[in-house]
Amino acid sequence: MAFNKRVKIKALLEKDYTDQDATIMGWVRTKRSNKNVSFIAINDGSSIKNFQVVADPNLINEEILKKATTGACLKVSGKIVTSQGAGQQNELNASKIEILGEADPEKYPLQPKKHSLEFLREIAHLRVRTNTFGAVFRVRHALAFAVHKYFNDKGFFYIHTPIITASDAEGAGETFKVTTFDLKNPPLTADGKIDYKADFFERETNLTVSGQLEGELAAMGLADIYTFGPTFRAENSNTTRHLAEFWMIEPEMAFYDAEDNQDLAEDFLKYIISYALENCKDDIEFLDKRAQEEESTKKANQRSEMGLLERLQFVVENEFQRLTYTEAIDVLKNSNYNKKKKFQYLIEDWGVDLQSEHERYLVEKHFKKPVILTDYPKEIKAFYMRQNDDGKTVAAMDILFPGIGEIVGGSQREERLDLLTKRMEEMNIPTEEMWWYLDTRRFGSTPHAGFGLGFERLVLFVTGMGNIRDVIAFPRTPGHAEF
Ligand code: 4AD
Ligand code: MG
Repeated sequence: MAFNKRVKIKALLEKDYTDQDATIMGWVRTKRSNKNVSFIAINDGSSIKNFQVVADPNLINEEILKKATTGACLKVSGKIVTSQGAGQQNELNASKIEILGEADPEKYPLQPKKHSLEFLREIAHLRVRTNTFGAVFRVRHALAFAVHKYFNDKGFFYIHTPIITASDAEGAGETFKVTTFDLKNPPLTADGKIDYKADFFERETNLTVSGQLEGELAAMGLADIYTFGPTFRAENSNTTRHLAEFWMIEPEMAFYDAEDNQDLAEDFLKYIISYALENCKDDIEFLDKRAQEEESTKKANQRSEMGLLERLQFVVENEFQRLTYTEAIDVLKNSNYNKKKKFQYLIEDWGVDLQSEHERYLVEKHFKKPVILTDYPKEIKAFYMRQNDDGKTVAAMDILFPGIGEIVGGSQREERLDLLTKRMEEMNIPTEEMWWYLDTRRFGSTPHAGFGLGFERLVLFVTGMGNIRDVIAFPRTPGHAEF
């Protein structure tokens, strides 16, 4: 007989199984015992809720009950009965308990008490067994599923773009190198440089910072595509919003202009957030309470005005504020924050890049809703963005979210070969090496647009967590690549 004849706790909670026999498997969260009875709360990951096992010491061996400590893994068979106690509808009256794996209480680090997120990050291999991380990863899953559902339902095709590339799509020079060379002794050319021709790919390669360029190639035949994959950036920013390895969703659409792109991004974000609200009720309610507790420890002027649930509902129900970079600079320049020098970086001239404090001011203080900022100065944006007729700005869009700052970056693409080539030359992007990218503008070019959604920033927003390291199972940040 197969070992895994079990019912998931989620299923036991959804239907009434009173008087039926059932087997559950899971990890002990807590155990309370007196000489007549033991109550063991089991969690199997299927739900934030535990299932209560009731064990009669006359029926269940004393040794086994002793080993059923917090963290141990159990297989419990018995009958589902109506619970006498408050807190649960039904419980499992155990006729047999097997210890699948013990957890020495002297050594098991996760005891039933509140642990700090910093401590849990040090034991990321175990933290998935806590309520908070169980909830976060179930929500993360639901969001990923909703991404695929949204695009599939709209007739988009999922393209798997390469992880190893020879280009730096964003041109920021923050790539991780990929090589098979012996780093102590790489082959050198006659003039003493590293001879990448002798390397595995016969050229210099790196981990991708974005799937966009290949995504554009695919859109020039399939019309509507999206990528959803890992991206890597060696930016040394130790913030609560940056990872060195993060997941990005990048749709790319032929025949879309900048406004179509904005419409799609807004609709997409609202859809996936609604999906999580509908499908992760218990988890989001739990995370809402968690966030409330967290907020109550902050100073009054640093607390957010809305709770998590309220904030999610608000984003789904309200139109995003759209304005140009130029308009935003005016708002910022005339703001009290600028006049009273409350910004770390004061806004003086048109053309400066916005810092996260400025983005958050616009979203949280001024408009009090998500903002789509468009038409940035071309100097601060990537080479591929479509140049506007003013000669100064490009058809860029960033979407800014409360508590997060930038969550989406995108643009209409420059589809005109001459303008694109000229811009690449100005920005020292090697046009010969990018011949394949330029070919899309040589043959059958068309207006097209796309954007990138940082998946972890989305998960941060939906779970109300405060640090991006807590929404990916095994975060990669400067100095951290354990697990
Ligand atoms: O704005 P970015 O750099 O845009 C691109 O990569 C474009 N190629 C996207 C496109 O048009 N197809 O990155 C897109 C998003 C950001 O808005 C942010 O949410 C997220 O990716 N992001 C990061 N998330 C976590 N850690 C980092 N280091 C991130 N860098 C960017
Ligand atoms: Mg960006």
